[in-house]
Amino acid sequence: MLILALALHLLAAIVWVGGMFFAHVILRPAMAPMPPAERMALRGRLLPRFFAVVWVAVIVLFVTGYGVLYFGYEGLDGAGLHVRLMEGIGLFMMLLFGWMYFRPFKLFMQALKDDDGQAAAFEFERIRRVVALNLVLGLIVSALAGTGNFWG
Ligand code: HEM
Repeated sequence: MLILALALHLLAAIVWVGGMFFAHVILRPAMAPMPPAERMALRGRLLPRFFAVVWVAVIVLFVTGYGVLYFGYEGLDGAGLHVRLMEGIGLFMMLLFGWMYFRPFKLFMQALKDDDGQAAAFEFERIRRVVALNLVLGLIVSALAGTGNFWG
């Protein structure tokens, strides 16, 4: 059970961080030559799909993270520094994602519905910054988590 939980935890991290990496590093520059209206419309189709997947990944990371912590390590007292850092940074990433989903992302989708290109561009910029920050934090957390047993 513990092994299954850790495997799901790892897969959820790969999906979330890998998805952000692809969006930011590969997709964004590839979309740059497109006309702005087309670019926004494409974002309006891909972001709801990606964020639905991220919700699943966040719930899986949370449940399996605490599952492994309490059934594998008997709580934070038994865990190394890398797990404490992962919990702190991980919870911050999840809160940031939740805020971004319920504020800028909802406003972005509304702006697209209202055909308000300026508002959509403004909200998308806020989404982009959160994704960029979560990408950096996600890469750091993954590196800390993967190496922590040798130093944590
Ligand atoms: C509520 C937040 C979280 C908790 C409580 C938590 C807890 C844990 C625990 C207890 C382990 C096992 C550590 C070990 O055996 O050394 C683990 C592993 C791991 N976690 Fe998390 N985690 C959280 C969030 C995250 C997030 C947000 C990410 C990345 C986006 C992440 C990525 C990883 C990775 C890659 C491993 C595998 C490390 C290995 O190779 O053993 N975790 N996590």
